Amino acid sequence: MNILVTGGAGFIGSNFIKYMLSKYDYNIINLDLLTYAGNLNNLKDIKTDRYTFIKGDICDRSLLEKIFNSFDIDIVINFAAESHVDRSIEEPSVFLTTNIIGTQTLLEVAKKYWKISPNDKYCREYKPGVKFLQVSTDEVYGELGQTGKFVETMPLMPNSPYSASKASADLIVRSYHETYGMPVNITRCSNNYGPFQFPEKLIPLMIINCLKDKDLPVYGDGMQIRDWIHVSDHCSAIDTVLRKGINGEIYNIGGNNEIENINIVKLIIKALGKSENLIRFVKDRPGHDRRYAIDNSKITTQLGWVPKYTFEQGMNETIKWYLNNTDWIENIISGDYINYYENMYSNV
Ligand code: NAD
Ligand code: TYD
Repeated sequence: MNILVTGGAGFIGSNFIKYMLSKYDYNIINLDLLTYAGNLNNLKDIKTDRYTFIKGDICDRSLLEKIFNSFDIDIVINFAAESHVDRSIEEPSVFLTTNIIGTQTLLEVAKKYWKISPNDKYCREYKPGVKFLQVSTDEVYGELGQTGKFVETMPLMPNSPYSASKASADLIVRSYHETYGMPVNITRCSNNYGPFQFPEKLIPLMIINCLKDKDLPVYGDGMQIRDWIHVSDHCSAIDTVLRKGINGEIYNIGGNNEIENINIVKLIIKALGKSENLIRFVKDRPGHDRRYAIDNSKITTQLGWVPKYTFEQGMNETIKWYLNNTDWIENIISGDYINYYENMYSNV
């Protein structure tokens, strides 16, 4: 089987490629533009010739056609995205280009290569075994009040340019299933943590700042709730959907770990033996969603997936990983990252 993974040099994509290469004998082609978030160091331990890296853009249709032609792609797993809410507030347009147009370009090329009669607009028959899996997020549902959880049938009410672009992509993917009969699945996962996460996101940012005795910028009152899942549980869930997901279906993925941001920050401070005096409450993010929580009963009951990590075990391992991988951190905290950090946190 030949799998095209897009965005495989990022946090979740790189974890997923290593997970799949170690578990199966599939060939994996990783297409990644290597934006600020893409890092080939995340993949440097891969030794097998079942893995190919191609630098390029999911919006580049002629490159996608060459890849489908050369590698006879069976499966597309689309991780490629602009993924950071704060950046989407500063500069939304690239989010629309990559997350929406890029997804549609990939769908269009996959449809052309997988349809049994590509020129017949009424043909709904595809090569056996093909699938397009869109890696989406729980943020497309918007925010929850103090009770309730996200279920797959809820209306989409995204609040940031990032989540709006991901919601748009979900609707385009859905339309390719409804209109052209394409075999697709959409997964909507909650906040991930684990090794190789870029330090603009909450958990690695707090670990790294703590290690350097820098301020820990907590937005607003720090009482916002996210539902955390270890990245390897996200990878196993995607693998499950790939093997068992019913075409056209959407699956929520979550680990049942709702925690207030401030408590995550305090946990990291304690684990690293630092002082809570490092905490700095800063101006809140505009449009900041108060609470996310995933109801994962569809994937657990219908497909038999279960998360393996407790939050405590996952956080212990993750903190250790950052402590043992200071070279990886120093390589990332380059000029670009320093400029981003200074712009983002200087006036708040
Ligand atoms: P990331 O920012 O770490 O990685 C994104 C990758 O996509 C990078 O390697 C980047 O170079 C690549 N990329 C960006 N634009 C591209 C383009 N035009 N063409 C090809 N490659 C491009 O993101 P992540 O945290 O690994 O998230 C991966 C996917 O999972 C995203 O689609 C995101 O929306 C989704 N997701 C993330 C989380 C989370 O907590 N991180 C939760 C749920 C869903
Ligand atoms: P983040 O990791 O950016 O993920 P998302 O916005 O996709 O949920 O942020 C997680 C939570 O942490 C979110 O409520 C915003 C908050 N946060 C801070 O309080 N301070 C920070 O410096 C960052 C990056 C995030």
